[in-house]
Amino acid sequence: MDEFYRIKRLPPYVFGIVNDLKTKARARGEDIIDLGMGNPDLGTPKHIVAKLIQAAQNPKNHRYSASRGITRLRVAITKWYRDRYGVELDPESEAIATIGAKEGLAHLALAVLQPGDGALVPNPTYPIHSYSVVIADGDLRSVPMTPDGDFFGRLEEAAKLAWPKAKLLILSFPHNPTTTCVDLAFFERVVDFARAHRLMVVHDFAYADLFYDGYQPPSFLQARGAKDVGVELFSLTKSYNMAGWRLAFCCGNPAMVHALARIKSYLDYGVFQPIQIATTVTLNEAQDYPKQVNETYQSRRDALCDGLERIGWSVPRPKGTMFVWAPIPEPYRHLGSLEVAKKLQPPLAKPRLPAEVEGCRRQVAALRCPGGRSARKPGFPGPGRTAGSVNAAGRAALRGRTTRPGRRPHRPARPGRG
Ligand SMILES: Cc1ncc(COP(=O)(O)O)c(C=O)c1O
Repeated sequence: MDEFYRIKRLPPYVFGIVNDLKTKARARGEDIIDLGMGNPDLGTPKHIVAKLIQAAQNPKNHRYSASRGITRLRVAITKWYRDRYGVELDPESEAIATIGAKEGLAHLALAVLQPGDGALVPNPTYPIHSYSVVIADGDLRSVPMTPDGDFFGRLEEAAKLAWPKAKLLILSFPHNPTTTCVDLAFFERVVDFARAHRLMVVHDFAYADLFYDGYQPPSFLQARGAKDVGVELFSLTKSYNMAGWRLAFCCGNPAMVHALARIKSYLDYGVFQPIQIATTVTLNEAQDYPKQVNETYQSRRDALCDGLERIGWSVPRPKGTMFVWAPIPEPYRHLGSLEVAKKLQPPLAKPRLPAEVEGCRRQVAALRCPGGRSARKPGFPGPGRTAGSVNAAGRAALRGRTTRPGRRPHRPARPGRG
């Protein structure tokens, strides 16, 4: 059979690779803590689980549900936006529930792009930001995202180089994996930029609730005129530890929400209704819960950063997300993050490892490695850093466990330009 067109353009999913490495290491009897994936491990609040159980016992909730989300749920998300950000949204035309942010992004790209349409996407980024464009047959244009870089300068350059003109800009702040955080003025500039370049904007707000040290991330929809140019996705995954439940929202521009609703009506029947009901209760009654989650992540962040500091690996303390974006110590930077991550594996560590790497091996369980040597290939100008997810990192640092390799860099099927 010939190779399938779309599958050829999709390299194995990064987390699939990590899981494979993990399984093999575990089979060798190694003790591992996985820092590869930002997979919340704290459990959903008990009263939300109780509501799910109650709703699941009602046969009326076993039918197909509403693809765009039940009315009460859409009303709850608009209330959530009003209470938190002072943003007014119409639950009928400006809010839609999606299976998760990941699926929402993939469906949205299919809904709004036509083959060949350009999309500007920061690099590195959460994989579906770029691969939603690839799957929709769009033209992926990377915008290098270095923490010390001039993002707007690079964005301007990428938009200028794109021909035909790009139609879509996908952003996400606080940013996975670089942990870059922005203020409201940044989003106002994004709105102006989108107007000037006739771009639609998609902002993935997955880390809306994971912030520290007095910083509070703004919603893109708070920016003046944001609804005229784009939408924002908010997910229950990180804020309420509901990763496996699968529920998110896409809110903002009515034309984009309408397009997403249309494509979703063909592709899915909506999230299992008891999950929608439990989520409605969550949004209405548990708005403070994410604060508790944050305290845990903050203590883990501090444990990891303090632990790395002690062994001489000084890393910036992130103000948002569940990740740490760690520059590789200078003597090893030339190796690239992938090679350094490999060296962190004890069984492969012969001859004896250099001091920093040896020390790190005792501190970190696994590393995500979006930068590094292979990352410097076209379309992957990663800044040669490694990042670990804070959720297990703190535990690893505290327990002094052995290290494991994490996420390998992936290359877009069609390298971005600009
Ligand atoms: C930036 C970003 N967006 C979306 C997601 C996934 O969200 P969901 O579980 O709602 O699909 C993640 C998960 O790590 C993420 O980092």
